[in-house]
Amino acid sequence: MDALLCKKLGDPTHSPVPSSIENDNGSPIVLDPKHPIPELKTPTSVLVRVKATSLNYANYLQILGKYQEKPPLPFIPGSDYSGVVAAIGSRVSNFRVGDKVCSVAGLGSFAQFIVADESELFRVPEGCDLVAAGALPVAFGTSHVALVHRAQLTAGQVLLVLGAAGGVGTAAVQIGKVCGAIVIAVARGAEKVHFLKSLGVDHVVDASNENVIPSVKEFLKAKKLKGVDVLYDPVGGKLTKESMKLLNWGAQILVIGFASGEIPVIPANIALVKNWTVHGLYWGSYRIHRPPVLEDSLKELLSWLAKGLITVQISHAFALSEANLAFAAIKDRKVIGKVMVICEGRGSTRSKI
Ligand SMILES: NC(=O)c1ccc[n+]([C@@H]2O[C@H](COP(=O)([O-])OP(=O)(O)OC[C@H]3O[C@@H](n4cnc5c(N)ncnc54)[C@H](OP(=O)(O)O)[C@@H]3O)[C@@H](O)[C@H]2O)c1
Repeated sequence: MDALLCKKLGDPTHSPVPSSIENDNGSPIVLDPKHPIPELKTPTSVLVRVKATSLNYANYLQILGKYQEKPPLPFIPGSDYSGVVAAIGSRVSNFRVGDKVCSVAGLGSFAQFIVADESELFRVPEGCDLVAAGALPVAFGTSHVALVHRAQLTAGQVLLVLGAAGGVGTAAVQIGKVCGAIVIAVARGAEKVHFLKSLGVDHVVDASNENVIPSVKEFLKAKKLKGVDVLYDPVGGKLTKESMKLLNWGAQILVIGFASGEIPVIPANIALVKNWTVHGLYWGSYRIHRPPVLEDSLKELLSWLAKGLITVQISHAFALSEANLAFAAIKDRKVIGKVMVICEGRGSTRSKI
């Protein structure tokens, strides 16, 4: 089968992906066309023919060697994915060959086949686009656990989403709207602003030509709102520091990530005076510590996807052999929503959908 191997750490955007492991053009990633198909090692294992795997910022950080989880080399990167059941172990009871599924893998999904235990798989409901379902677990899962499970966002609360046109950001604004919140989004550029407005966001700040704080303050004043109740922050750095000027008494801060590369300082003295709650949220660790929370969350998200309450915006889709371009789209901040890598078939799927 075709599999994308990370054979050394480095920037995957600098060179094209070599089409054999013998070919070394300096790229840390390589397409292995003869990788063995993984075996069903337990009776409850399921072999999935991967349709699409999503590319998360963490995948890029992992190949750079800058992510908290550092697998031994070589490894096949892993992320959330979708596909069709190709074979099942002797004691699999919930799935049959041909079922459409999605899941998340720490490693191994950038390949044409992957094996998962049946307990890790979710059935994709009829009517849901299979590529879209592959983008759901991490980005939407993170935002859903953060906003619904942790912050318990309620109708009428003010939600401020930073990095709002990115993977977790577009999920957060949509989940915010489903919860009935007043959603304010921060993103850069007219195209992203236009897209966020199309999602029904109440106020969008274009950080490339507007000052975030005065723009949000003006909106809050016009709507007679006191401040932001929930800050969803996948960006960090200066933007987090500034956004704290907008927070209400009793606000909640959801620390999601540091796309800016800068870890912000949240002053404990102000948190005390203003009764703020700071939630650190690492979605992946719920798989170990609270699996039922993730299970309920993903089931709810799949039902929302089937009902059309949320949509997955796929801004770019690439073949495994073009994975360098997929990573470049993330690096260059060109993505609106998600980047997907299509694992089935061969050849170029290079596209901006
Ligand atoms: N805690 C968790 O469990 C969890 C789960 C998933 C992701 N994350 C983290 O959340 C962050 C965002 O992930 P994602 O998948 O949504 O990434 P993404 O699609 O690349 O979105 C990141 C957004 O951040 C904004 N940004 C601001 N400053 C940036 C900078 N200096 N470099 C790059 N982007 C910048 C960009 O928007 P503009 O260009 O419009 O400013 C971009 O749209 C990452 O740090 C990721 O590791 C955490």
